[in-house]
Amino acid sequence: MRIFSRKILVTLSIGFIGLLFGPLLQAQEYPADTARGKAVYQRDCQACHGAGGWGDGPEAQALTIAPTNFHRFSSFLKSDEELLRTIEHGVVFSPMHAWRGQLTDGEMQDAVAYIRLLSQQAR
Ligand code: HEC
Repeated sequence: MRIFSRKILVTLSIGFIGLLFGPLLQAQEYPADTARGKAVYQRDCQACHGAGGWGDGPEAQALTIAPTNFHRFSSFLKSDEELLRTIEHGVVFSPMHAWRGQLTDGEMQDAVAYIRLLSQQAR
């Protein structure tokens, strides 16, 4: 008697191939794209962080913790990874909640690329 039926084997192999190539499919979204990042930013971030990234979006006034002004050195000097971590996991007890689950890895990277672009622009 065979332990695995053919069907199960086929299903398992497809699942395994998926595991192998899944990360590659995600990786296709790279390199980060500022145009896509802009769309994400305008939809999900601008209300707090402001159109120019100065932390002056329409919702900012209602918040007790000010949204980060991306032009400030303290933010500007952070690595992409640090910003990405904040976007992905959020900040505890802050209006900046985690975006994991709402944004894909690619979208978060694109958003960082766009934030970097904004932070280099003068008012
Ligand atoms: C509800 C308002 C709000 C929204 C919407 C929001 N943020 Fe924030 N964000 C904040 C606040 C407030 C902080 C400061 C958190 C703190 O220091 O406690 C912050 C901090 C950050 C930081 C950390 C900056 C640094 O220098 O450490 C990044 C990066 C960031 N936000 C990116 C984003 C992105 C990308 C989006 C959209 C996907 C977004 N935020 C949406 C309020 C918001």
